[in-house]
This record gives sequence, structure tokens and C-alpha cells, in this order.
Amino acid sequence: MSIWPRVLILGSGGQLGHELVQSFGGHAEVIACDRNSLDLTSPDKIREKVRTAAPDLILNAAAYTAVDRAESEPDLATAINTHAPAILAEEALRAGALLVHYSTDYVFDGTKNSPWTEIDATNPLNTYGASKLAGEKAITQVGGRYLIFRTSWVYGPYGKNFLFTMLRLGRERDELKVVDDQVGSPTTSIELAKATNKITTRILRGDFGSPSVWAGLYNMTCGGSVSWCGFAQAIFARSAKLLKEKSSTVHPIKTIEFPTPAARPHNSVLSNEKLFQRFGVRLTTWEPALDEVLQIVTQRK
Ligand SMILES: NC(=O)c1ccc[n+]([C@@H]2O[C@H](COP(=O)([O-])OP(=O)(O)OC[C@H]3O[C@@H](n4cnc5c(N)ncnc54)[C@H](OP(=O)(O)O)[C@@H]3O)[C@@H](O)[C@H]2O)c1
Repeated sequence: MSIWPRVLILGSGGQLGHELVQSFGGHAEVIACDRNSLDLTSPDKIREKVRTAAPDLILNAAAYTAVDRAESEPDLATAINTHAPAILAEEALRAGALLVHYSTDYVFDGTKNSPWTEIDATNPLNTYGASKLAGEKAITQVGGRYLIFRTSWVYGPYGKNFLFTMLRLGRERDELKVVDDQVGSPTTSIELAKATNKITTRILRGDFGSPSVWAGLYNMTCGGSVSWCGFAQAIFARSAKLLKEKSSTVHPIKTIEFPTPAARPHNSVLSNEKLFQRFGVRLTTWEPALDEVLQIVTQRK
């Protein structure tokens, strides 16, 4: 390996992919691929890209993330979220590269009253969750040098997300209704990229020993938890101060009052203890992480 590792980043046009490119850019030879440079529905192109890039590390931040639309496009969701990761795992194994893949809290059905651990039984309620779970299983079956980070409620200063939707709606309306009976951990793309960088840098340096010690599935979210309604209220309270945005009133409603094509878990809070025990890494709690994103958005204005 040269002094700087070669890092192939897939999904560089997405929220997390964008942050990964920023985070690794200073100390790695980054090969960034968005959908235009690599379409993950084409197995041959995936193989060709990995073989040409000959990476030390593959970061797969690409995914079919349209949770509701997946209900009517299950084959496309499966191609991107299940088949493509399987091919990446095979190619990573062939190349001796470390593969990092991201999965979702939506592999769970939300019926547990405490944070979900990595050994809890999965039971996705929707097509997106099922396609991501099948992707996890496919990678695990191939084995090798891999990490799967299950995360939740991802947003950041770049891309399309709940934060920007709320800020836009807040400019348009004085009052909003947001579901209050789905609880999770909003997690920023910045925190995910930072943690991924710390962990993979140390693995590539050999700090954690062989893959039998560290390879596997880990939850990785910001700390704490909140409902979508509570998150929206925090966005308005904090952005009113920081961005001088008008603060809208957010009223809690039940999921049943806001029907969507895809069902979602009521509790999707993940326990991050395994990640901390193995790698000594803990993401910050969701409130300061939100402030960090709002600061960046403010400076951009
Ligand atoms: N967003 C969340 O709330 C959330 C929650 C839990 C887990 N996750 C997981 O976290 C990871 C990162 O999510 P994110 O929020 O950064 O997602 P994102 O912003 O939607 O980015 C996903 C990227 O994948 C790309 N992509 C889609 N189809 C593709 C294809 N056929 N070929 C190549 N690229 C394709 C998209 O390209 P286009 O921009 O051209 O569509 C997009 O740039 C994903 O694994 C996701 O499942 C996300």
C-alpha cells in the first residue's frame, strides 16, 4: 500500500457520500463515483470499476433510499440495496480490500421498548428495510474484511433531508403537523463520516488485528433519541436563533393520521455499545450534531 490509501467512494452525490469525500480527501487517494460514473444496477460495471480502481478501502454510501417509492419499485431497490452490495463484497474479497457498507434502523419492526442491539431479531416493515437487510446478509455471507454500519434518520448540510424539508415548510406555513409516535436517533452525515474515517484509518494501520476480531455488523448513530415531532421542534427552536429563520409551531400527530405507502417502526433507536466496545468510538448526541449542521447552513447563506 502507498502511504495514502486508495479509497473508492460510491454514492458521492448523496448526503453521506459527499461527507465521506470531504473527510477522506485530505489523507487518501479518493476515487469518487456518483450515479453517472457508476450505475449500481450494472453488475459488470461494478466489477470493472473495482478492478480498475484497485482500492484499499471501498466506502459504499450509495443506496436506493426512497422509502415510500420502494414499495412500487421493489426490483430496483433490491438491485441497488441487495445485489450491488453482494458484488462489492465479492470484489472486495478478491482485491483484499476493506468494504464499508451502511444499513438502516428500518430492518427492525419497532416493537422493542429499548434500543435495538446487533443481535436482536430483524423484521422489516417495508420493502426498503427488507432490501437493506438482504444486502447485509449477502455481505456477511461473502465475509472477508467488511464492516456494516447500521444507522438512522440521516441528514446533513448537503442533500435532500428532513431538516431542509422542515426549514422550507417553516418558511411557507406558521403551523405544521409532524408524527410524534415514531422515535429514533437523528444522525448527521458529518458524524458518520468522522467515525468511519477514525475506524477505517486504524483498521488499515493494523491497530485492531485480523478481521476475525473486528469484521461484522455495528450500529452507528448519534446519541439520544427523539420523535420526528420533537426533532422538528428542535430544528425550529435552534434555527430561529442561528439562522434568524421564522419559528413555526409544530403540532404532534399520530402515524395513523399521516398514512404513507411504507410502514415505519415506532421505535428504531439503536444501541451503540458494540461500536464503542470494539473501536472506542462514540458519535456525539443528536442536539450538538444538529447545531453543527445548522451552523454550516447559516454560513452558506
Ligand atoms: N437517509 C436516511 O435517513 C438513512 C437512514 C438509515 C440508513 N441510511 C443509509 O445510509 C446510507 C447513506 O444514505 P444517504 O442518506 O446518504 O442517501 P442519499 O443521500 O439518498 O444518497 C444515496 C446515493 O446513492 C445514489 N444512487 C441511487 N441509485 C443508484 C444507482 N443505481 N447507481 C449508483 N448510485 C445510486 C444516489 O444517486 P442520485 O442522487 O443520483 O439519486 C445518491 O447519491 C445508505 O446506505 C442508506 O441506506 C440512510
